[in-house]
Amino acid sequence: MKFLVTGGAGFIGSAFVRNLLASAGNAPKVKRVVNLDKLTYAGNLENLDPVSGDARYRFVHGDICDGKLVNDLVGEERPDVIVNFAAESHVDRSILSPEPVFETNLRGTFRLLEAARMQKTPRFVHVSTDEVYGNIDAPHEADESYPLRASSPYSASKAGSDLLALSYFVTYKLPVVVTRASNNYGPYQFPEKLIPLMISNALEDKPLPIYGDGMQVRDWLYVDDHCRAILAVAALGREGEVYNIGGSRALANIEVVKRILDAVGRPHSLMQTVKDRPGHDRRYALSSEKLMRETGWSAQMPFENGLPSTIDWYKSNPDWIARVKSGEYKNYYEKNYANRV
Ligand code: NAD
Ligand code: DAU
Repeated sequence: MKFLVTGGAGFIGSAFVRNLLASAGNAPKVKRVVNLDKLTYAGNLENLDPVSGDARYRFVHGDICDGKLVNDLVGEERPDVIVNFAAESHVDRSILSPEPVFETNLRGTFRLLEAARMQKTPRFVHVSTDEVYGNIDAPHEADESYPLRASSPYSASKAGSDLLALSYFVTYKLPVVVTRASNNYGPYQFPEKLIPLMISNALEDKPLPIYGDGMQVRDWLYVDDHCRAILAVAALGREGEVYNIGGSRALANIEVVKRILDAVGRPHSLMQTVKDRPGHDRRYALSSEKLMRETGWSAQMPFENGLPSTIDWYKSNPDWIARVKSGEYKNYYEKNYANRV
């Protein structure tokens, strides 16, 4: 199997590439993994150090919005599977500055779909999110037929790209599958997202900014469980179908943050309530029943183990955090949090 992975220098994409190249036994025989990544603020080649010397791996520095580059690359490499992770992935950034979100998440996905259509790529996995369903009131859960009600520019762009990808199956019979996952956590996650931001601030004894009342509920999925699900969908998912991928671990944000503070031995008084995120969805909840029934996948990492091991990873990798935070992170942090208190 030859894979073209986009966004493979980011958090989930790099875990997928590392897992692919490390895989043995049940996984499909991996002949080649090409990683196309623009290296935005979120892309970090350090995340791929463990595989950079593997002869099956090739990194291409480029933008998925560049039609010529994408067409040439798909034509040259003729992958069996394209997995599209590349995205502007952060909701707060999409609120501060929506344009890059629409460029990459919509136009970039369009360019990839076009290249796959021209080259008749046998499998196109489009990686999406539970945010496309919007807020879900308890006790309901979204299955794949739930209406799309995106709340942020980020989630609207993802919903649009999902529909575009599915339309390529209906219209052109391109073998597309769409996955919609819940909140991921684990090593190498950029410290703008809740869990790594709170770990990093707590370790530095800085305030931990809680949006609104902190009672918003997210469903936590360990990144390697997500990667296994994507591989399962790539192998067994039915063309033209959507598959939800949930962690079955719903928790209020404040509960997650308290657990982090307890684990690193810092007081709860470090939590600081700040102005809420505009359009903030209160609750996400997914049914992954279809994925489990059709592929046999289930989440393997309990949050009670995944959170401490993630904290340990951040504690053991202070240089990684320092380097990541030495770039444009300070400007972003200032812009997002300065006038919030
Ligand atoms: P990330 O922000 O960590 O990484 C995104 C990667 O995409 C980076 O390496 C970046 O350089 C690259 N990229 C951005 N624009 C690009 C472009 N125009 N061309 C090429 N590369 C580009 O994101 P992540 O958290 O790893 O998320 C990966 C995917 O999974 C996204 O599509 C996201 O919507 C989806 N997703 C994320 C989560 C989550 O909790 N993080 C949950 C569900 C779905
Ligand atoms: O649900 C899947 C989505 O999860 C993915 O599609 C996105 O790419 C990913 O970024 C993530 O989106 P969220 O907005 O849920 O993640 P974030 O880590 O930004 O926030 C999680 C929750 O924590 C959310 O309710 C907002 C809250 N929060 C976040 C930050 C950064 C805070 O209270 N304070 C913060 O400083």
